[in-house]
Amino acid sequence: MNVQMPSAFQQAPAGHVASGSGLTPGYMSGFGNGFESEALPGALPVARNSPQRCPYGLYAEQLSGSPFTAPRVANERSWLYRIFPTVTHFGEFHPAEIGLWRTAPSPETRLPIAPYRWDPIAIPAEPLSFVEGIRTMTTAGDAGAQAGMGAHLYFVTRSMEDEYFYNSDGEMLIVAQEGQLRLWTEFGIIDIEPGEIAVIPRGVKMRVELLGGPARGYVCENYGGAFTLPERGPIGANCMANQRDFLTPCAAFEDREAPSKMYVKWGGDLWVCDLDRSPLDVVAWHGNYAPYKYDLRKYSPVGPILYDHADPSIFTVLTSPSETPGTANIDFVVFCDRWLVAENTFRPPWYHMNVMSEFMGLVHGVYDAKTGGGFQPGGCSLHNMMLPHGPDVDAFEKASTVELKPHKLEGTLAFMFETRFPQAISAFAAESPAFQKSYAGYGRKLAKHFDPSKP
Ligand SMILES: [Fe+2]
Repeated sequence: MNVQMPSAFQQAPAGHVASGSGLTPGYMSGFGNGFESEALPGALPVARNSPQRCPYGLYAEQLSGSPFTAPRVANERSWLYRIFPTVTHFGEFHPAEIGLWRTAPSPETRLPIAPYRWDPIAIPAEPLSFVEGIRTMTTAGDAGAQAGMGAHLYFVTRSMEDEYFYNSDGEMLIVAQEGQLRLWTEFGIIDIEPGEIAVIPRGVKMRVELLGGPARGYVCENYGGAFTLPERGPIGANCMANQRDFLTPCAAFEDREAPSKMYVKWGGDLWVCDLDRSPLDVVAWHGNYAPYKYDLRKYSPVGPILYDHADPSIFTVLTSPSETPGTANIDFVVFCDRWLVAENTFRPPWYHMNVMSEFMGLVHGVYDAKTGGGFQPGGCSLHNMMLPHGPDVDAFEKASTVELKPHKLEGTLAFMFETRFPQAISAFAAESPAFQKSYAGYGRKLAKHFDPSKP
């Protein structure tokens, strides 16, 4: 295999360097920049996108993530300079086994309305690639209408070898929970570990390798508008997720001829064709439509510093906008380490009903609304549209009686995929032994404290 070390064209701190254990990815810092990167000197055409002949005999190809005419703020495209254009990487496609991956609309179950929660599911022993190991928990909206999302778990026990994949139905936000992944993308290499996320835009080819042992985590498959940074309003120019902490890979490519397979998720189905070479053959690229990673531990939370409790929107890392301002297709929200200082305040999340629907997962630690032990790292929960939820009895009793001092929540990392659409539960989720059938009753365990004689 001929793997080329990229040289960062600008902004990249180091590019890729060889190490004893293989490659170390190089990244460029920023969010939504007009990045440019080349893995061979001079591979990127200068001052034009589509020269009559590209350097090194490369083909030019544009990848459009938005309509051509989208407003500038939402217009996303990149130019890729590759050994072969994607039409060459397309053979005769055949249906492939999609396993337990579901796409909205997917009304597989009709469970009673209730809050739902699942224990962590153990990583299976069977060989599972990233594509084979997707287990859909919920679906929402309609992928064909480019609105809504799928919430999935992933389990990876084997690397993809001479197998490649891209998703036409949605952008994939990958939340690592256990084990490390190496994402070989057309744009370069991204490594993620628990605490980090990666976002792979719709249509970007990749293969997923394990770095070390098996891996487990979550995927938000975003059928709607591409994730972007939320507005900060009066918070101003700093804090929350800062642009400089988002990392996009430097160009890297394979010139590898070998019998291979290309999997494409399209219209809720999985298709496969045979290839005779790697499609990860982009030698140089430029543009603002590219994969990226982010370390959730770098999130700079803001919150109430005297009393009361802000809405969880202050913890939004990324948002997928809809046509309605302020009504997200998806908000990706993180609950990370932070100080709690509010005086005379019930500090955990409040009791709540919400027109949005909330899928939550836990990377590590304890979530402060659920201290009773049932929400475990690797597990997940669903509090659907306009259904009540809030702290369990353990969390309520502690938080309403504890002496309030400045207190730091440490070693905790929970997150939420919050969508404007109700979420349908998959048959896999409903039938899983991890499904906590008794969770729905947690609210009825709360004690009566009302005493009309004690104002
Ligand atoms: Fe809520």
